[in-house]
Amino acid sequence: MSKINFPVGPNTTAIHTGEAPDPATGASAPNIVMSTTFVADAESGFSATGIEDDTNWIYTRWGNPTIHQLEEKIAALEGAEKAAAFSSGMGAISALLFHLLKQGDHAVISDVAYAALSEMTNETIPNLGVSITKVNTSDAEAVKNAVRPNTRLIYIETPCNPLLRLTDIEETARIAHSADAKLAVDSTFATPMATNPIKLGADFVIHSMTKYIGGHGDALGGVIAGYSADISPLRNSIAIRLGSTLSPFNAWLIMRGLATLPLRMKAHEANALQVARYLEDHPKVKRVIYPGLPSHPQYELAKKQMKNFSGMITFQVQDGRKAAAVLAKELQIIHYAVSLGHHRSLIFYLQSEDLLQSSFKFDTQAQNDSWRQFAGDGIFRFSVGLEDAEDIIRDLDIALSKI
Ligand SMILES: Cc1ncc(COP(=O)(O)O)c(C=O)c1O
Repeated sequence: MSKINFPVGPNTTAIHTGEAPDPATGASAPNIVMSTTFVADAESGFSATGIEDDTNWIYTRWGNPTIHQLEEKIAALEGAEKAAAFSSGMGAISALLFHLLKQGDHAVISDVAYAALSEMTNETIPNLGVSITKVNTSDAEAVKNAVRPNTRLIYIETPCNPLLRLTDIEETARIAHSADAKLAVDSTFATPMATNPIKLGADFVIHSMTKYIGGHGDALGGVIAGYSADISPLRNSIAIRLGSTLSPFNAWLIMRGLATLPLRMKAHEANALQVARYLEDHPKVKRVIYPGLPSHPQYELAKKQMKNFSGMITFQVQDGRKAAAVLAKELQIIHYAVSLGHHRSLIFYLQSEDLLQSSFKFDTQAQNDSWRQFAGDGIFRFSVGLEDAEDIIRDLDIALSKI
């Protein structure tokens, strides 16, 4: 077989990029290379410091053919030059922060973001002598005002977890670059099918591959994609030392999921839109937030920045904590569980007070107000799966009738 020598679309990229039939056996599906070590020649060095892209495989923490196939697919889908995979989304995020920030530096971080990132930038990173300013990154003025001469990084999530609030990537990239800082975008909720942050000016795009990219809830993984000049030093000086290496088996599972990502995201979006409309009409539901609904406060930005509105919905009901107990007991199809982006529908209740005190710890009234606008006293975060939309709605309808 010869190599594909013409430009291909996202479905073909997700299926074919990075892989080729095994030259020894002709196997059409990729092999899993589980070997931790590779037979080397006598000239090979014992340090990862000098490894280059064309260096032979030596040790799986430095690089592995199966993991590399996945990295090639992600880079191609994101329109990035290169990608580096990690054992989890937090592994990727930690490597990025350790790579970019050193004592005396400053970073601007989204005040609402995945809880572990929030906690890490409230405690772990400041303890290393890096100062952090948390702002609502949807507000470009707030971002501009937070930038200092020593700002090295602006870090955003769009849509952000759990509020589904959006940030304008192009505008934030301009702010970052005029301050000589890098822009990193956690695009886990959007996926490469909705938004390609690198094409919009970001320097790094991050995914928890545990979510939509793997898509089946059976493999943790994370990835950072961007320009070679940024990703190669990140891998060589930090990732290899931190050691948050993706298992080749997980890389293989994630690739199997990734092959259907473009198709799955169309189905997630179609289901989520139907469920969001159902919830908006439900008398017990006070508020629904979904980027694909005209009622989303940033619907215009969603249409500009997202080619697919993804499958995440949040909604509020009266006395959410009590309702959560009913839903956890009564739902028959939808799993009451954390995580998201799986083929199964998952729902979880997030109490505002808990999150504000344990993870976000806002400084200003404006930050509190923005949180309340999107989340009230608490929200159900609903990852709409790939079951039949009418079954998801029926399951919700029966459970909601009992709250
Ligand atoms: C937006 C976002 N980023 C990063 C992470 C961390 O990913 P992982 O659980 O794979 O470490 C999560 C996990 O939920 C997430 O939702």
